[in-house]
Amino acid sequence: MSNLGIVFRKYRLGDEEGIASLLHSSFESFREYGINKEVWLEYGKIDSGFRPENALVAECEGKVVGHVQIICRRVKIGDNCYVDMGGIANVSTMPEMRRRGIGTTLLMNAIEQCINEGIPLSGLFTSYGSAAHRMYKRVGYEDTFFCKALVGTVDEMKRVKDNCGEAGGVIIRHYEDGDEDKMLKTYFEWGKPYTGLVERSIEYWRRKLVERSAIHTFFYGDFDPEEVFIAVENGEVTGYAYTTLCKKQKVPFRPPEAGIIRELVFKPGRLKSLISLVDAIMDFFISEGVKLCEVASPLEDVYLTVFKPFRQMPHGMFMTHIPLIHKLFEELKSELENRISLTPLSGGKIVMEFETPYGSIRLSVRGGEVNIPVDEEPTVKIFFDSNSFTRMIFGVETISDLMTGNMVRIHTTQYIGRVVSMVQALFPRRIWFMSPIDHW
Ligand SMILES: CC(C)(COP(=O)(O)OP(=O)(O)OC[C@H]1O[C@@H](n2cnc3c(N)ncnc32)[C@H](O)[C@@H]1OP(=O)(O)O)[C@@H](O)C(=O)NCCC(=O)NCCS
Repeated sequence: MSNLGIVFRKYRLGDEEGIASLLHSSFESFREYGINKEVWLEYGKIDSGFRPENALVAECEGKVVGHVQIICRRVKIGDNCYVDMGGIANVSTMPEMRRRGIGTTLLMNAIEQCINEGIPLSGLFTSYGSAAHRMYKRVGYEDTFFCKALVGTVDEMKRVKDNCGEAGGVIIRHYEDGDEDKMLKTYFEWGKPYTGLVERSIEYWRRKLVERSAIHTFFYGDFDPEEVFIAVENGEVTGYAYTTLCKKQKVPFRPPEAGIIRELVFKPGRLKSLISLVDAIMDFFISEGVKLCEVASPLEDVYLTVFKPFRQMPHGMFMTHIPLIHKLFEELKSELENRISLTPLSGGKIVMEFETPYGSIRLSVRGGEVNIPVDEEPTVKIFFDSNSFTRMIFGVETISDLMTGNMVRIHTTQYIGRVVSMVQALFPRRIWFMSPIDHW
């Protein structure tokens, strides 16, 4: 595809120099981190979701002037369903070439690539209200979840520690060789209630969290077992935490006196492990002179209670696009049937059509079975305004929330209460969480 002398194409060997220089000119974070072509190529060896061939570039007179990277992830929707997501990263245009539609065209090409490769979902992180945020909206990405981190000053850290109290029976130690198998198992058990969680293989874990210390897909520090805490109850690993002292590891946009809890995980019901981990980390941070503590955790009651003195600080907007809505629903089918089986509605019958910014999708729910597609005429049509459908898919908002917010219109000849109950059963509320370690 060509436009104003600009060629849009896929990555070719030799582009890495131009891409690294573009990232350097466009992102302060990459400048701080020290991006160059070797670092860029190294990402492909660290993270199986980063493939150089999934870089798209805009070229002008032989020079890379624009770029977007598609990062492959499998992201959880609901309890058990992992769906392929094309993560949009590093969208950038050379400063002197901006405001000519290059960024927008690159994104449209990235969505097309997702379609060609059968990737049903695409997602990205950005700052709310930025030029990039407008660009993403222009090509159809929706505001799905407003990410927040818990942040506390040293006084607040001391109060968190005081609130921890005594929790006997838990041993806290540092990482030992081979712990990753048990940590990965703990991660999956812990993550069951969360939507948005990234699927990890043991290989991914070793490369990112043992051989080095991942802060984010593009930013790594050296692995230090002293920064990894393991909770053990009766000989069983019941929780763990990855921490970072910013004075030791350079973390973009964080002052050296900051300490980050990058991941804080405990097995279901093992609250004592969580409390003991937090207690040990607060001790460690305070003794190391940490003045500001940041915690990446799901924003649910248990974490909000433990970190009650901390504040919730905005941490970017997660936006999603659905390049292949039919495929998405096919992949969700058994998850949806499972949800229906948990409600007394499984005997009911309903044919509904969702009119979404990503096209329309018709599904029938009958005898607890969900079918897509169907020929029957729908008895319910739901029209979704922008920024509503993807929130419902991830369970960030339910149909009732969207109705209250005037985000949907429902046309039906059936009793509205029955329709709403069915949609609510199919798409219940969930807590969204994706660890920053997996962010792109
Ligand atoms: C964000 C970024 C990629 C946008 O790239 P770009 O190539 O300038 O993007 P576009 O040209 O498609 O759109 C930018 C603006 O130019 C406008 N525009 C596009 N073509 C135009 C034209 N021919 N004439 C006038 N304006 C035009 C767009 O409408 C848009 O306007 P808006 O800011 O009011 O929404 C670029 O600013 C950048 O590299 N920023 C630094 C890196 C960054 O922040 N990346 C995003 C990370 S989340």
